[in-house]
Amino acid sequence: MSKIVMGIESSCDETGVGIVALADDGTMELLADEVASSVELHARFGGVVPEVASRAHLEAMVPTMRRALSDSGITLSDVDAIAVTCGPGLAGALLVGVSAAKAYAAALDVPLYGVNHLPGHVAADTLEHGPLPSSCLALLVSGGHTQLLRVDDLATKITELGFTIDDAAGEAYDKVARVLGLPYPGGPPIDRAAQVGSDSIAFPRGLTGPRDAKYDFSFSGLKTAVARWVEAREANGEPVPVDDVCASFQEAVADVLTAKAVRAATDLGIGTLVVSGGVAANSRLKALARQRCDEAGITLRVPRPRLCTDNGAMIAALGAHVVAAGVQPSTLDLSADPALPV
Ligand code: KG4
Ligand code: ZN
Repeated sequence: MSKIVMGIESSCDETGVGIVALADDGTMELLADEVASSVELHARFGGVVPEVASRAHLEAMVPTMRRALSDSGITLSDVDAIAVTCGPGLAGALLVGVSAAKAYAAALDVPLYGVNHLPGHVAADTLEHGPLPSSCLALLVSGGHTQLLRVDDLATKITELGFTIDDAAGEAYDKVARVLGLPYPGGPPIDRAAQVGSDSIAFPRGLTGPRDAKYDFSFSGLKTAVARWVEAREANGEPVPVDDVCASFQEAVADVLTAKAVRAATDLGIGTLVVSGGVAANSRLKALARQRCDEAGITLRVPRPRLCTDNGAMIAALGAHVVAAGVQPSTLDLSADPALPV
């Protein structure tokens, strides 16, 4: 008898509802993955506006759930457990998902599991590439987070090795896009421009000095360096070579992310690296990660873009891992924690 686990995600600007069937032997089948994004509502502000995101979640939650149920061919009464992102993320946005999950769990009389968004990104990969090895490393790169995690057990044992001390990698993409007059979100247009530009400008690599924390990241200095470089060109009345700026910025980001992740894997003797989050869609990051992992004998796993960005399927998958591990469910006083640690 398989168990049906529903996952609800609302930590940022994506309302996601995913449904996973967990078989007795621990294998999982993805039955539905519906996402409603409010990204277009934030575009003119150049970043996610928390209040706008919360309202959009409120409007999208029930229709998204209805679509997920219809895709999967099950009804609410078939659901055996509900998992919901309870942090980290935007407080108001998280609360919409947590409240919905509590209401459904109470009404259906099924267990509720408040889960952490970050291992959710790693769980997404298990939907595409199957179970993880006994230990792996995860590099999570999105607009909201940049983290290096050691994963010994998705449900119970995750250690944070490093994180960004300022901007997330995706946030740096979005801010640099703004400087260059490219649209929000900045990742895709920068990625496209970089492919025709050349890596000809030496931008700084944050936190790579001998005294710097080995596995932490910093992108705010890079973002400022790009802005200063562009301003200096404009002040001299010279044209800005947007494609070359994009290629050089992109190289700096991909270089630091992959160098630190591969170094951590090598230092710790871990043979698998999972890269996930919206920035994992980046062409140069993927190519450089592939090259450096091959050189170091590390297996690289990158889920398809749809599973990399925020979605409910990853929360359903993590919920299924948690159910399979026999973790105690949350109580109905579960609350959202915007700064929930891993
Ligand atoms: O995971 P995600 O959809 O949402 C969260 O931030 O949690 O990630 C969105 C971020 C944005 O900052 C966007 O600019 C970036 O991912 N992104 C990319 C690419 N596609 C999306 N960054 C670099 N290259 C891309 N191809
Ligand atoms: Zn995320």
